[in-house]
Amino acid sequence: MRGLYPVLFFFIFVCSVRAKKVRWCTVSDPEQKKCAELAKALVAVLPQADVAAFGRLSCIRAPSTADCVDRIKGNRADIVNVDAGEVYSAVKQFDLVAIAKEIYRDGGCILSVAVVRNDSLDIRSLQGHRSCHSGVRWTAGWSLPLGFLLSRNYLSWSKEHPLSQDVVSFFGASCVPGAAAMAPTLCALCRGQKSYIRQKNYHCETSHSEPFYNNQGALRCLRLGVGDVAFVDHLALESIGESERDEFRLLCGDGTQAPLSSYRNCNLGRGPGGGTVTRVNFRKLARKFLATVQTLFGRQGRERQRFQLFHSSTFGERDLLFKDATDKLAVLADGMDVSQVLGLDYVALLKGLGHEGSSLEDSVVRWCCISHAEQTKCEQWALSIKSDPLVCVRAVSMRDCIEKIKRDEVDAVSLDATHSFIAGKCGLVPVVTEYYGRNCVPANGSTHLETDVLPSVVGVAVAKRSSRNVLMGNLGSRRSCHSYTYSPAGWLLPYRHRLSHEHNSSSPCDPNQVYNQVFWKGCLPGSQGNLCKVCMGGTGEAATKRCADNHNERYYGNMGALRCLVGDPSGKSYGDVAFLEHHNLLDNILSLGSTGWADGWSSTDFELLCSDGRRAPLSEWESCNLGVIPPNTVMTRPVLTARVYDFLMKSQETLAASPNTDFKLFESQQYGESDLLFKDATQCFVHTSHMDYRSILGEEFYTHVETVFNCTQSDILEFCIQDVCSIL
Ligand SMILES: *[C@@H]1O[C@H](CO)[C@@H](O)[C@H](O)[C@H]1NC(C)=O
Ligand SMILES: *[C@@H]1O[C@H](CO)[C@@H](O)[C@H](O)[C@H]1NC(C)=O
Ligand SMILES: *[C@@H]1O[C@H](CO)[C@@H](O)[C@H](O)[C@H]1NC(C)=O
Ligand SMILES: *[C@@H]1O[C@H](CO)[C@@H](O)[C@H](O)[C@H]1NC(C)=O
Repeated sequence: MRGLYPVLFFFIFVCSVRAKKVRWCTVSDPEQKKCAELAKALVAVLPQADVAAFGRLSCIRAPSTADCVDRIKGNRADIVNVDAGEVYSAVKQFDLVAIAKEIYRDGGCILSVAVVRNDSLDIRSLQGHRSCHSGVRWTAGWSLPLGFLLSRNYLSWSKEHPLSQDVVSFFGASCVPGAAAMAPTLCALCRGQKSYIRQKNYHCETSHSEPFYNNQGALRCLRLGVGDVAFVDHLALESIGESERDEFRLLCGDGTQAPLSSYRNCNLGRGPGGGTVTRVNFRKLARKFLATVQTLFGRQGRERQRFQLFHSSTFGERDLLFKDATDKLAVLADGMDVSQVLGLDYVALLKGLGHEGSSLEDSVVRWCCISHAEQTKCEQWALSIKSDPLVCVRAVSMRDCIEKIKRDEVDAVSLDATHSFIAGKCGLVPVVTEYYGRNCVPANGSTHLETDVLPSVVGVAVAKRSSRNVLMGNLGSRRSCHSYTYSPAGWLLPYRHRLSHEHNSSSPCDPNQVYNQVFWKGCLPGSQGNLCKVCMGGTGEAATKRCADNHNERYYGNMGALRCLVGDPSGKSYGDVAFLEHHNLLDNILSLGSTGWADGWSSTDFELLCSDGRRAPLSEWESCNLGVIPPNTVMTRPVLTARVYDFLMKSQETLAASPNTDFKLFESQQYGESDLLFKDATQCFVHTSHMDYRSILGEEFYTHVETVFNCTQSDILEFCIQDVCSIL
């Protein structure tokens, strides 16, 4: 018996060492060499006990990154570091987990850039030219540039087949390493050795044995004149030496070219950088292993004289195991969802590109509705345009719509100017802008209106004519009615004017605080406390608590603020002053009676409060208002702009072609409300997807909103900027 213990002990020891071996997957000889050096260095610097605890490293040579993911899944390797696009596939399709992310000097994100050598190329005329890509479905080499080209409609995707088919016909010829299985034509320009023996075939593989693989390969493809444009990430530009910098230019989104150093302003979008994946059951050891390796051989590593984790040139290639530009690895907490790791914007982009294989739900447009009335109108809309599938998705407020669009739960919504600002800060982009001008038909007879003049609306303060003492500057301790939180007319504009004796330019810059200080109570849907006390809530199908930030609250919006001003039939909940938009005021006054809210009111029963303290009849709104408000804009995720535009144009055309249908896109009174889905003043849509939201809002309005949000806490803005790629 005695002799058995040492044997047993030895057996257990050997087993535990075997179990803790870490197998790193490599895709080329240089990478294999670097990995082997790392293994040697680990053995040399770690005490024997730690080698046992943290694992002995072995290096598994595979023909491609896809093969690595496959091997890890099948327990024939353990770890690999890959592009974020492959991280996503590894997690979604192979059930692997992401355990670390590369962090670079300027953050965790990369910018996609299009590099050219020909002075006469521009981003709008790439069709027919030859392209070099770092890798298929890679962030900077594929998803971001294709998302950009689609969003501008330079590339069109018929949706009957996968996007790769349209990419094939778009470019004259390409090298997209990794595309062989998906669309072999996309490999035409690749230069790797061809072989029918899989292990010896390097052609178009995601391996350094394919000379045009990865960022450096794509740049090589461009340098050799094989391709006209290379899609790579901005970190790759560092590798272009001073002597040849002048030969290269970047293609910017606006159609111009810029020098390489301008990548921050001249790029096709941003996305997450590379990450490390492993099997779920291996994640704890893998994390510990990465942390140890980084402590030893990272930029500040104890043993960096012996081996440098983020350095490859001694092995004859760049970006081996990790990108050379990596500053450190951020080891991720357990249980993080893939959209927390890679960011909502990026995950939505990949879904939009059919990264997991396209599904035909892709042709549906999901519109955001915030109330029972909007849902009803939206469903009528869906029925009136039978050919194009429209799905109406319910949210609880405009802010909620923005969040749902980011989360890919809904696709588009028309937003007022303040919410357009928020959506723009959140990375959403304009599709069309509501047009309030008279003449919607362009001179040449097209239905697609293009114009630089975007008519605005104005915000006004309204009081009952009978309450003679209610004046601007004299509103202290009165009851107020505001269309809703963040609304331009009800929230953004009034606080800038003199509201009461006490309220002057030294007052706080947060409108919520001002209204709370000035007014006794009121109804500002979406707020809380005293400014909810006058609100009514909703009943029946539109049941809601008081102060909800949508039309279910009967005092919400332009119609609601007017109802609030005249008060409910019981005579209890009413305001002394209403802040709303002028454009549908007269119609809304008329509909007070016809909708059964309150009889007997006409426009002469109301007066405008001018900012100088005068009162004026409603007709004098041009000289007596609180400010100009830019038009509403339909906003969406960038990759959907062309699709949503197409949907809206077709919808507008079908509705115009059947003028006798009951459904009117820009009317809301039949639902007992105002401004449902779009402002009632809308005549048609103006194409604005080539414009920046900032230029649609105009510099003055933009700066004003920015100033206000610089001193106003806003959950939705905080939600948006927490997304992975808002840094940099
Ligand atoms: C540059 O691009 C233009 C436009 O496609 C083409 O006509 C011209 O031949 C190109 N020049 C070179 C040097 O490739
Ligand atoms: C009308 O003008 C617009 C914008 O200038 C243009 O896009 C459209 O093709 C023109 N339509 C016709 C029928 O000429
Ligand atoms: C401005 O308001 C503050 C308090 O809100 C008051 O103390 C101050 O006197 C006011 N200034 C003027 C010029 O009215
Ligand atoms: C708002 O704050 C940001 C960040 O501090 C600053 O860059 C910007 O200039 C500010 N904008 C205005 C209009 O004050």
